[in-house]
Formats: sequence, C-alpha cells, structure tokens
Amino acid sequence: MLITLEKILLEYDPEAKNLLPALEKISAVFGYVSRENARKVADYFSLPESKVYETASFYDLVNIKKQPNLIIKVCSGTHCAVSDSRKIVEEIENKLHIKAGDENNPRVKLEIISCLGRCGEGPVAVINDKVYERVTAGGVGEILEEWI
Ligand code: FES
Repeated sequence: MLITLEKILLEYDPEAKNLLPALEKISAVFGYVSRENARKVADYFSLPESKVYETASFYDLVNIKKQPNLIIKVCSGTHCAVSDSRKIVEEIENKLHIKAGDENNPRVKLEIISCLGRCGEGPVAVINDKVYERVTAGGVGEILEEWI
C-alpha cells in the first residue's frame, strides 16, 4: 500500500500539539521532510512554513535534509575508544575518501557517536540498521564490501 503525505496527515488532527508527531512520522516514512512536504504540512496545520521548519530542525528525530543511502556510525565511547575505534574511523575515511562529520556527501555519511550500550562487544559500528561488533581496522574493507 502506498503511503502518501496526505494519508499521514489525516492520522493527526490539525492542532499545533500534533505538529511534532506528524513531522516525526513523515521523516521516518520518507527519510526527511522535504520543502514541498513542509509547505503541505504548514497548510494542513494552518501554520507559517517557518514554524514547521523551526520545529523540524530543532528535533533530532526529524530530518530536514535528504539522507545519504549509506549512514555509517562508529562508537567513540570510552570502551570502544580504548579498543582503537579511531583507527576504524580512519580506515573508513581512507577507503571511502570521506571525512567523518561531512554532511555534504549525498551518498555516504560517517558519524562518530557515543556509547551504544554494547561496550562488551566493542568496538561497535552501525551501517544503516546493521550492527557490527568487535570491528577491527583490518576488517573494515570486508564490512564495506557488503554495502558498496
Ligand atoms: S563504548 Fe562503544 S558501545 Fe559502549
């Protein structure tokens, strides 16, 4: 069944208190809230478009930029850091010719994140929703081959 923006909006009464839940759902379904969809949301809730953008950009659960297809996260929590997670980051940067934190690559994003609560299995990395445990710099190439 095709999910459209209009169907999502109909799940919410057009009251200001429902703006954030609606934006979270739109972001989860479409990956982000596009400018066009922000305009439609503003019309539906009878709010200025600037209010919709202000709300969307304030909360981490709502993306206002189209996300790359590949999102790689490497834990830099204490346990993973002492297990050389920095070398894993460097290996990924070298292999993919990217820099951690660069928001402008349309294909891939590399994020350094805090503890994922899997310290005993560290260093931990996550690619999209797949978790990798006990990652080594030498094993990065094999992991990336699954995705590229
Ligand atoms: S420090 Fe990496 S999972 Fe906890």
